[in-house]
Amino acid sequence: MAKKQKPDISKEIAQLRDELNEHNRQYHTLDKPLISDAEYDALYRQLVSLEEAHPELVTPDSPTQRVGSAPLDGFTQVEHTVPMLSLANAFSLDDLADFDRRVKTRLKQDLRTKIDYAAEPKLDGLAVSLRYENGLLVQGATRGDGARGEDITQNLRTIWSLPITLTGKTPAVLEVRGEVFMRNADFDALNKAAEKEGRPRFVNPRNAAAGALRQLDPRKTAERKLSIYIYAMGLIDGMPKGVAQPMLHTDMLAWFKKMGLPINTESDLCRGSDACFAYYESLSDKRAGLAYAIDGVVFKVNDLALQESLGQVSRAPRWAIAQKFPAEEATTVVESIDFQVGRTGALTPVARLKSVFVGGVTVSNATLHNMDEVKRKDIRAGDTVVVRRAGDVIPEVVAIIPEKRPKKTTRTTLPKACPVCGSPVIESEEMAVSRCSGGLACGAQVKEGIKHFASRRAMDIDGLGDKLIEQLVDEHCIASVADLYRLTQEQIMALPRQGEKSASKVIAAIDKSRTTTFARFLFALGIREIGETSARHLAAEFGSLEKLQKADIERLKKVADVGQVMAQNIIGFFDNVQQREVVEQLINLGIHWPEVKPVGSTTESAGPLAGNTYVLTGTLSGMTRDEAGAQLRALGAKVTGSVSANTTAVIAGDKAGSKATKAEALGIALLDEEQLMTLLEQHND
Ligand code: IVH
Repeated sequence: MAKKQKPDISKEIAQLRDELNEHNRQYHTLDKPLISDAEYDALYRQLVSLEEAHPELVTPDSPTQRVGSAPLDGFTQVEHTVPMLSLANAFSLDDLADFDRRVKTRLKQDLRTKIDYAAEPKLDGLAVSLRYENGLLVQGATRGDGARGEDITQNLRTIWSLPITLTGKTPAVLEVRGEVFMRNADFDALNKAAEKEGRPRFVNPRNAAAGALRQLDPRKTAERKLSIYIYAMGLIDGMPKGVAQPMLHTDMLAWFKKMGLPINTESDLCRGSDACFAYYESLSDKRAGLAYAIDGVVFKVNDLALQESLGQVSRAPRWAIAQKFPAEEATTVVESIDFQVGRTGALTPVARLKSVFVGGVTVSNATLHNMDEVKRKDIRAGDTVVVRRAGDVIPEVVAIIPEKRPKKTTRTTLPKACPVCGSPVIESEEMAVSRCSGGLACGAQVKEGIKHFASRRAMDIDGLGDKLIEQLVDEHCIASVADLYRLTQEQIMALPRQGEKSASKVIAAIDKSRTTTFARFLFALGIREIGETSARHLAAEFGSLEKLQKADIERLKKVADVGQVMAQNIIGFFDNVQQREVVEQLINLGIHWPEVKPVGSTTESAGPLAGNTYVLTGTLSGMTRDEAGAQLRALGAKVTGSVSANTTAVIAGDKAGSKATKAEALGIALLDEEQLMTLLEQHND
């Protein structure tokens, strides 16, 4: 019976295998999955159970055999048939222009000719060489010293995007080169798991990928989820009949792709050095948003015959160059760890670093966020650390380098007393925030509170900068925000480096700020967690300070965005005698605002914007579209999803698409975020 079934079963297994391999190609190489993950899993399980019943029918190219072999004792050496070259680096656009000139001079071409370059992201991973014989992956090796590497075939087989068998007509022998790397999402998941299991975190995706390739047990490599892109050729022997040998690098990549090899979709063709500059600029803009780490751009002369005639010098080709981005990571030493006290008394640990150039700027401080982070990474004064500054993100300490820790270091602990005022520090479990209990007796909290009060989005006191506020507090001219309105020009002029003109300007600006809006005033008070948006909601809802102060928790929670914690913070703020007194003094010193007519949050017909219809599109920087919509509705406006002749205006944030275009076509007003803020402010006044 079983014997009779065999041909069918073997056909079925082969069919399933081909089907799954094709789905892998659709998913990983073409980025166009045809079936859901669940459907794929079902097919995969079907193949597993058939193969379990008929182990003699398992072939090496079966997707179940990606993690096939047993752990190795060590890697064997592989001689590269064609050496694996490295690339010359360019660090400035001048270097790139020089490269372009050298190429033309060597090719004896007029300097005005535009050379075609293939442009590709420079992946931050590890170079490997892959050998396919008659379409089957037979060997994969590390670069090693360029002439010999290590055989890591079984580890490379675990990379799902790498085909074990090529598709269609293939050469008898094909050797290709590419970069193995780890996607950011896979890296983050790996570190999360490491943390959960109490293992040390990986410093960056490159290190994690390198470690994965060095595993002797391929099951360990498979757990790390690696990716690969192919970007170069090693050797072709025996072109298949009817397939023309590619003449251009870009054609070669297209051919690789046709055979199922994964190719980076960001690659492009650049005509002349100006196009290369533009590609470099556009890729740097994209860099932070890419799913993987890159450290530059590689430009390659596209014509393969020209590549050949340019040749190589030492171990780098003359036809390619790596234009590097500024490094996002650097190592330096933590000189000390300080604690900064914020407006609400929160203590933030900060690493004072030996200055280091990273991400295009010199960095000497890095926030350590909170004590949980310090404990988790065990950062101590004296440690050598990896510092990262990507894009405009504030610098952070990624990890310490344990091998470089000096003999005598002490674990970093939270101070018992506030470093500024000496009041006891209260440790809190929740949100890992610890606070100075000094309140308004703490110089740091007073200073930060006044800075916030005077800031542009709060009371907007022009010319009253952070430095001046610090001087005024240090010289005992002011101890609270109310004191600002008692300040005299003479007091300011008595401070070092303060002239008559600037002092009188500051006094005028303080005076001007006496007339404000209820929303700004509420925000300026610096009640914990009350941002601009909540302040605006509260102002619109209550209309007056008296009504707000009288509201209980339940009433406060009815306001959009206000939850239990925020409501408690508001009650707590006005329950505090000192704070209530400051508010009272401010009112007595002349702070006032035009009365706000309270708007019932559900009554659309009332309100200053009643009768107006808005459409929100694109990304706003200061709030979400939902928040903006809620505020417009609170003012009586209608907010809809599509643009029509009835639309009053379209509010277009960043990357606004077809709705903004449609508005323009219909002659409907387009407002940007700033105009929206002005609109909201006008009507909340
Ligand atoms: S081509 C003969 N293309 O950069 C040219 N290399 O600094 C061989 N790399 O060893 C390399 N992305 O590991 C090439 N798109 C790309 C690349 C790339 C990353 C790496 C590769 C190479 C190193 C040289």
